Amino acid sequence: MEKIVINGTKPLKGELYVTGAKNAALGILPAAILADSPSVIDNVPDISDIQHYITMLRKLGAGVRFENHRLTIDPRSIRPENIRNIDEEVKSMRASYYLYGALLTLFKKVTMPLPGGCNLGDRPIDQHVKAFNALGVDIDKEKISKEETNPIFDGHCDKLTGADIYFDLPSVGATINALLASVKAEGVTMLYNAAKEPHVVDVANFLVAMGARITGAGTDTIKIRGVESLNGCEYSVVADQICIGTYMIAAAATEGDVTVKGIIPEHLDSVTAKLREMGNDITSGDDWIRVVGKRPLKGVTVRTKPYPGFPTDLQQPMGVLMCLADEDSEIYETIFTDRFQYTEQLIKMGADIRVHRTKEMDGEQKEIDAARSATFRGVGKLKGAEILSNDLRAGAAMVIAGLAAEGQTIVSGIEHIERGYEDIVGSFRALGADIKKVDFN
Ligand code: UD1
Repeated sequence: MEKIVINGTKPLKGELYVTGAKNAALGILPAAILADSPSVIDNVPDISDIQHYITMLRKLGAGVRFENHRLTIDPRSIRPENIRNIDEEVKSMRASYYLYGALLTLFKKVTMPLPGGCNLGDRPIDQHVKAFNALGVDIDKEKISKEETNPIFDGHCDKLTGADIYFDLPSVGATINALLASVKAEGVTMLYNAAKEPHVVDVANFLVAMGARITGAGTDTIKIRGVESLNGCEYSVVADQICIGTYMIAAAATEGDVTVKGIIPEHLDSVTAKLREMGNDITSGDDWIRVVGKRPLKGVTVRTKPYPGFPTDLQQPMGVLMCLADEDSEIYETIFTDRFQYTEQLIKMGADIRVHRTKEMDGEQKEIDAARSATFRGVGKLKGAEILSNDLRAGAAMVIAGLAAEGQTIVSGIEHIERGYEDIVGSFRALGADIKKVDFN
């Protein structure tokens, strides 16, 4: 089994470019199957989630080539009878649910398992279902129920018809799925309370490059005028907001000096603001951000929020930095019900964290045990330990903890990290970290 071994406290120094955004690419790949001709997509991250998606698209019948971050996809040979071949792949990843929207547009009928993904607590898909229903899709709600041992998304319609869709909350997944199901629907679709994340905008931009008529992406109201057909296009995926934030936090955690280049700095405004509030020096230009880590670090309060708020995906890396402060900090996790499991690993490294658990109702109005906030005592330093990465972003947090900790840290469960970070070990090593992957078999 491969693990990451880190000898910590080396300040990260230098410049790096991050890859294209995972969460954008995972929406763009299914969007590409809506075209009548091939697309060429550049800056696609070479990570296991993308490889997984490519496997699904190939099994559906698409021709896919992926080399040097360039992905060529020819969707013309996708066949509806192939949908049943991807059940296992669908179950093991969250973003597989974008195939519901894309395949409804293509075939007006989809039967597929519910998606898997990181265990962050309750992750209902009621807003996706609501959007599909509004567009005219009949969905068997019994089959989606949590009571089902093998829940299934079973939707069909005669045609997709534009509609007004009011989301109860801004959901990245439901917004992208509504885009995928409405771009070729008859008439106009309006999405209200839509998600505004940079990856949502990037998927919309890709669809527009294919010939879709979408306005308002990046605001909470998106208008889609259905078109008859979409063409393949050439496109380059936007830089990964979450990877950029990860490297920024790592720079601060190691008292480093790191410049991330080829990016859109505004995507990180909420992170920049918090890092500054803690006492770090941040400067930026048109397409770069430089973080100089400072000590002592002040305590802060972070509330995760939909974009442009602080991203939940950087909550865990931020938790590590809070441990290194001299004052106490608080995190309020407003997006997911159980995203503090990683704190148990930090406690092994000398952290002092109290997770506050509460009772609340889930999407089906059942009482659940939620972890919505935590107090991070500023203990000033961490010490190396053997720790486990329980999910993708927790894994990035564990690596940052190892980089900042005194002594040696061994991180296992690195398959989670490789889902979303391309060569995280090589990237940190290029910045001067003492980090390597070791096969412990
Ligand atoms: C996406 C990202 C994930 C990120 C999250 C929030 C991808 C592949 N994943 O996940 O990395 O952490 O956005 O930025 O892009 N919700 C409902 N009903 C729904 C859908 C969502 O109640 O039908 C709730 C969720 O439980 C959560 C909130 O809405 O509390 C936001 O979820 P959403 O934005 O949909 O997250 P994902 O698309 O799953």
